[in-house]
Amino acid sequence: MDRKADIGLIGLAVMGQNLVLNMNDNGYTVAVHNRTTAKMEDFLAGPAKGTSVVGAETLEGLVGMLESPRRVMLMVKAGPVVDSYIEQLIPLLDKGDIVIDGGNSHYPDTERRVKELEKHGLLFIGTGVSGGEEGARTGPSIMPGGASQAWPAVKPIFQAIAARASDGTPCCDWVGDGGAGHYVKMVHNAIEYGDMQLIAEAYQIMHELLGMSHTEMADVFGAWNQGRLESYLIEITSDILRTVDEDGSPLLENILDAAGQKGTGKWTVVDAANLGIPVTLIAEAVFARSLSALKEERVKAAEILGEPKNSSAVLGSGDRDAMLADLEAAVFAAKITSYAQGFMLIREAARENNWTIDFGAVAGMWRGGCIIRSAFLGDITEAYDKNPELQNLLLAPVFATATRDSVPAWRRAVTRAIGAGVPVPALGAALSFFDGYRTQRLPANMLQAQRDYFGAHTYERTDKPRGEYYHTNWTGSGGAVSAGTYNA
Ligand code: 6PG
Repeated sequence: MDRKADIGLIGLAVMGQNLVLNMNDNGYTVAVHNRTTAKMEDFLAGPAKGTSVVGAETLEGLVGMLESPRRVMLMVKAGPVVDSYIEQLIPLLDKGDIVIDGGNSHYPDTERRVKELEKHGLLFIGTGVSGGEEGARTGPSIMPGGASQAWPAVKPIFQAIAARASDGTPCCDWVGDGGAGHYVKMVHNAIEYGDMQLIAEAYQIMHELLGMSHTEMADVFGAWNQGRLESYLIEITSDILRTVDEDGSPLLENILDAAGQKGTGKWTVVDAANLGIPVTLIAEAVFARSLSALKEERVKAAEILGEPKNSSAVLGSGDRDAMLADLEAAVFAAKITSYAQGFMLIREAARENNWTIDFGAVAGMWRGGCIIRSAFLGDITEAYDKNPELQNLLLAPVFATATRDSVPAWRRAVTRAIGAGVPVPALGAALSFFDGYRTQRLPANMLQAQRDYFGAHTYERTDKPRGEYYHTNWTGSGGAVSAGTYNA
């Protein structure tokens, strides 16, 4: 090989292979390594044939092929495998070399790895890569974070291979220190769960309540994709609804209704609970998958408890258009609420972890390449550009107007579904959150009274300054001694 390679990539599963080919298309020489050499040889003799990609059977070989400072990207399964490769790479690398983890790693692992590699004089980047197989090949959304000194050396490659938003901006920029990149990718995935669940609920309403055929539903999603809901997920939903099985029946109806999940949604909910941020729609989307996975138990429960289906609630075609218009508004308003919740979480995590995150730039990185890509993300970037201090997306004029205007339709769609026994956990949770968020007085006075009644946990009073705590001897038999007032 005449010149050294620009970057090394370890892990030739489909994402790894496609990123390598994408880098090659953009003029970079990539050296690759895979634990199973045969897989690497297949790749070099197959998809990478005729390219400048070079293979290394050993990690020593790979490292020896790289230009300094070396850039080594891991595209391996998140978890111990990443640590094992890092351990093997450390003695082979020199000060200033860069290790990049492009898997769906949990952000505390990335935080730890950044610190650990720093001790060895190495720079670690943990980056989210979204867009699946096709995105990796043609342009993913890339969300890097970690050792910021490494960014100038990685930026040209990443921005060259990333997707571009409609205005030409690469869907990749520096997110922040430590685990910030993987955190933002985690929330991206959780928002993805929310978008998918909203679409699934809309499908169930159309199918069961409106009695629509698959072609009719595909047409509606196709039409929605021409409007404010325009997005990759709405687009593929229309395609999915049009796809037929070998016998000509809709393939969708032959797919078992038990959803899987790889963990990023769950991590988000756990982290949100720890930070006290109410990501209610995301949580419902995660738990909707958990409920679906209890397939056998649900079948049994349907027999014992009876299915909630109320066939008399199936609407006639006159009602249908009105309900579809309501549903479109409900999905849009719930989607705004979900993104608002997601950004509330990123904001709090940034505060907690001392990350400086540009929220508008994050939305910008999601405009193209990734699974949640949509026209609507441009509005989020614009809202943060107009007001970087924006407390909550729901308070941005554009979203305040959109949600407020959607409320009657949103409420009609949710009550109609509930009335007919069609579960709408995400649409409903979002509406309850929206109502709660704009309610000046919630019934938490009752919670505080109960806590004080049974546990002397004290309460604040409406007629006294915040931070002053009171206890009442509710029964006359309790003492005047109160418990501590800390909040977990
Ligand atoms: C992406 C996706 C991807 C994720 C899958 C599976 O951004 O390209 O988010 O990273 O692994 O969507 O996620 P679940 O198995 O948890 O649905």
